[in-house]
Amino acid sequence: MQGTAMDKFFGNLHLVLLTGLVAAIALIAYLGPDQTLLLSYVLRWLHVFFGITWIGLLYYFNFVQIPTMPSVPAELKPGVSKYIAPNALFFFRWGAAFTVLTGLAVAHVSGYLHQALTFTAGFELIGIGMWLALIMAFNVWVIIWPNQKKALGIVEADADTKAKSAKTAMIFSRVNTLLSIPMLYAMANFS
Ligand code: HEM
Repeated sequence: MQGTAMDKFFGNLHLVLLTGLVAAIALIAYLGPDQTLLLSYVLRWLHVFFGITWIGLLYYFNFVQIPTMPSVPAELKPGVSKYIAPNALFFFRWGAAFTVLTGLAVAHVSGYLHQALTFTAGFELIGIGMWLALIMAFNVWVIIWPNQKKALGIVEADADTKAKSAKTAMIFSRVNTLLSIPMLYAMANFS
């Protein structure tokens, strides 16, 4: 391929994502399960995609952005708080929402949603994983996002409220980082 054509292709995120999707559909068409399992396979695949989007950004905040912010010169901080963070938070909170939706859907179509959420024998591990992730998603939508809106100036707040909101968002982001570790063990090892 010519340099410019390749640059053009990989320079277009939507086209790259679409191509990945087509490749996955080809994989499903040739090596997918039979009709009865297809829905649960597709949902599980989408679930992991959204889960990675969500937890990937959680780890970006906790491993990269939060620890680096104190050493960013004051005049450069708005680059993060006004441009990078709001965009990252968009994919973060919607990643969380779609992870929950697809996760509950996987359990439902597999016929064990109720057993998992009530820790019925044999479903304790996935139940614990699901409850941990549900608590985490609650933290995202009910605590982290509303506080971030104030901290980043997306909604009006005085300096004192801003500082307090930033602190609350940071602590709950840390809580989620902690919970993500046992959650991932539970998610990945249920079969
Ligand atoms: C409230 C949120 C969540 C719910 C309700 C949920 C639910 C589920 C369910 C029911 C399964 C299927 C287990 C099976 O039948 O094989 C599953 C698998 C999985 N989940 Fe989640 N999950 C949630 C959050 C997450 C998050 C945040 C991640 C992070 C990446 C994640 C990653 C995975 C992975 C890797 C699998 C294993 C797929 C496999 O190998 O079969 N989940 N989840």
